[in-house]
Amino acid sequence: MTSTCWTRTQDNDGIVWLMLDRPGSSANALSKIVLEELDTILREIALTVPRGLVIGSAKASGFIAGADIKEFTTLSSVDEARRLVRAGQSVFDRLEALPCPTVAIIEGFALGGGLELALACRHRIGLDDGRLTLGLPEVMLGIHPGFGGTVRAVRLLGAANALDLMLTGRNLRADKARKMGLLDALARDAEGLRQLARDFILQPRPAHRPPLLQRSLSWAAVRPFVKPRLIAQVRKKARPEHYPAPYALIDLWAAHGAHGEAAYEAEADSIAKLFLTPTARNLVRVFLLQDALKAQGDKTLPTPQRVHVIGAGVMGADIAALCATRGLDVTLQDRDAAIVSAAIQQQHAKMAERIKDPVRRDAAIARLRADADGSTVGEADVVIEAIVERVEIKRSLFATIEPRLKAGAILATNTSSIKLEDLSSALHHPERLVGLHFFNPVALMPLVEIVRGSSTDEATLNKAINLARRIDKLPLPCRSSPGFLVNRVLVPYMFEAMYAAQEGLAKEIIDRAAVDFGMPVGPVELSDLVGLDVCLHVGSIVSDALGRTTPDLDALKALVAAGKLGKKSGEGLYRWLGDKPQRAAVEGSIPADLQDRLTLILANECVACLREGLVEREEWIDAGMIFGSGYAPFRGGPLQAARDRGIDECVRRLQELADRYGSRFTPDPGWERLRQPR
Ligand code: NAI
Repeated sequence: MTSTCWTRTQDNDGIVWLMLDRPGSSANALSKIVLEELDTILREIALTVPRGLVIGSAKASGFIAGADIKEFTTLSSVDEARRLVRAGQSVFDRLEALPCPTVAIIEGFALGGGLELALACRHRIGLDDGRLTLGLPEVMLGIHPGFGGTVRAVRLLGAANALDLMLTGRNLRADKARKMGLLDALARDAEGLRQLARDFILQPRPAHRPPLLQRSLSWAAVRPFVKPRLIAQVRKKARPEHYPAPYALIDLWAAHGAHGEAAYEAEADSIAKLFLTPTARNLVRVFLLQDALKAQGDKTLPTPQRVHVIGAGVMGADIAALCATRGLDVTLQDRDAAIVSAAIQQQHAKMAERIKDPVRRDAAIARLRADADGSTVGEADVVIEAIVERVEIKRSLFATIEPRLKAGAILATNTSSIKLEDLSSALHHPERLVGLHFFNPVALMPLVEIVRGSSTDEATLNKAINLARRIDKLPLPCRSSPGFLVNRVLVPYMFEAMYAAQEGLAKEIIDRAAVDFGMPVGPVELSDLVGLDVCLHVGSIVSDALGRTTPDLDALKALVAAGKLGKKSGEGLYRWLGDKPQRAAVEGSIPADLQDRLTLILANECVACLREGLVEREEWIDAGMIFGSGYAPFRGGPLQAARDRGIDECVRRLQELADRYGSRFTPDPGWERLRQPR
């Protein structure tokens, strides 16, 4: 038969080589058609039984990135989902049942369904070229493995390793995967990989088995003792009502211990139910949004290679180090040479600690260099300004560097609150200025707002997006306006927490209300993390510009004046011990309307941003709040959460809150537009 996705060849040793090359995409995914074709091929192979079967990828990117997530979004019933999963399981069963040795050769990555396919082979071997990544990250999408992975992973690795892999969704690198038994062997180059595959087939050997101690965890008499410990571990990270998948995984293992046909059937039943939960639907949507953010930019423009950062403070030094770590050549400037050398020294030390591979580490360190007086500014493709937040100082800096920029270079500012127009009006070429608004801490926060002023041109915008992608950030284009998107939306949310505190509510209770909703931290803790000085500054700018009322800010000002800035100074609204805020054991329940006060005032601001056209698409607001502030991903973002709750209900509730607490809750006129389906 002819196959559109698979190429089959047979070599002189009688080994069949089956290579996947799904048309129209740069990475392989297991779509329905890929699986159907594989099924047909396996049926044919089973009739003749070759010496062995090797499965690999013909794509340079890697083996298989997982199932085709877009196909999940069309599932309309649990029955339909179950049928799809059972069909996939039967293909992998057929592969596992072949009487000849089977080997998966893995380059780049084997993730999710891709790794499940490899698990159905007798052996797995990988190419150890520094990129190899293996994992079962399905929990991140609100589901668990469904093509037999929950069973085969436990059989191959033992319950402790397999459940850890599936419950955390974490990736494994080559050496870890080899040690764990997930890979049988590693090759140094592509030819070595093929040779190893041949060896595994021509000199057959038994499949890997975990040690007895690991196997014993899955015994029926032992599982009931292990289950509560697993649940306790998961509970520390995720609540069952928010994230049901890890709990379902534990239930599956506890009920079947990865034994027998019933384990596969239960896996299919469980994942089919999970597929239809709002959590999975929202997490899949967020995953696709992330892909859409990544796909932006103009690939025809030259990729930036040379970056010059001005301002070696909190943000500038981290931005410079990130760019160097991601392979760019970076110079760092400040008004004072001593500040530059101290920052460079500190960043080099951090890189030395973070980057394990000595060759990569030395190269990254060499790429970050001091240029205290900015003599190389004319060589840079992108100049990023991250100096003090003062209009006149930024403007006078720009006046000195603009004439020295090379043709085609862009000028980016990391300002968090100044309108781009106030900065660009001093430039001869205002179209070259763009905002690259990073979030603190730079290394951890995935989002960068790409701020477009009224003069910024398309090429500049795209170059800024390309730079963000080059350093693995998610670019979110937005219009220049007070606070841009994320900070603007966070201001009323954090201020509402202050209103509640001023009414006498304990900060611990306020934070608990937000965490119960699904926020990673509450608004009081978030204020301490951001820094109370920054909150005060940005909060005032946004509120003044938009003519909003604020809570009494005197207490906040007093804390800032006393140097109590939050986590960075060891005390703010909380006292901090290292990374942990010290909470009092406060009794008392959360007031019934507190969660709505916090989350609906935030949603209302998002609606205002949408109405004002701050971003181009409604989904960008959800993406921005999830990747820029950690907004509960399982709710799909503030606007998705509002849609799930019902637009009428949100508006009615806001009106009630406005009647009770004041006009800050008045529903924005933009809700009207959300009444129409997306
Ligand atoms: P910072 O105070 O830590 O660092 C500013 C640096 O700029 C200092 O090292 C200072 O010596 C240097 N500097 C001042 N004037 C200069 C000049 N004329 N030429 C060269 N260097 C000069 O400030 P931070 O926090 O790093 O903020 C920098 C920018 O990033 C600001 O625009 C701020 O609004 C923005 N930002 C800050 C965030 C934060 O959480 N700190 C988050 C996002 C943006």
